[in-house]
Amino acid sequence: MIKARVGVLISGRGSNMMALVEAARDPAYPAEIVCVVSNRADAKGLEYAASHGIAAELINHKHFATRESFEAALDAYLRKMNVEIIACAGFMRILTPGFISGWLGRMINIHPSLLPAYKGLHTHERALADGAKVHGCTVHHVTAELDAGPVILQAQVPVLPDDTPDTLSARVLSEEHRIYPQALAMLARQLN
Ligand code: GRF
Repeated sequence: MIKARVGVLISGRGSNMMALVEAARDPAYPAEIVCVVSNRADAKGLEYAASHGIAAELINHKHFATRESFEAALDAYLRKMNVEIIACAGFMRILTPGFISGWLGRMINIHPSLLPAYKGLHTHERALADGAKVHGCTVHHVTAELDAGPVILQAQVPVLPDDTPDTLSARVLSEEHRIYPQALAMLARQLN
């Protein structure tokens, strides 16, 4: 089977990246994780990737004078690794339309809300403040407008009366770990 070559972008914990790596261990999975890139040196996920034999690359945005020069280095690394699909997984840098246009249709993201509700940050706090009864997560294509690209998959969870941002976030996160590998597989199959 020809597997799509995937680069995962992270900035921190990396639990979604780990879910993708786990899924990709299945010989029947249509994608392989060829590299994990972090813009932060303290991203826990880098160690995990390296210890699983995956190229783990730090491209520290603070070492670049401009957003564009950081993105040029990121783009060059991903192309050197022959990456075909970028999976953003808790990557906390906003990417410019210039970078995104080079990967359109081949770059996806996981977002902790039922988009188009709660774009941006602090989604669990905002859902609780609104008294939302249902919350969830979305895997979507990355386009120039933040958190607004075409949806690939969503999963819903209930909001319970005694939920805190932490309990709600944990319930959403376990759904993220379930649907992100599914959505990546769908895209990989489409592209191959
Ligand atoms: C997740 O909630 C994801 O939806 C959001 O950032 C968080 C990253 O968590 N984009 P992790 O680094 O994958 O554990």
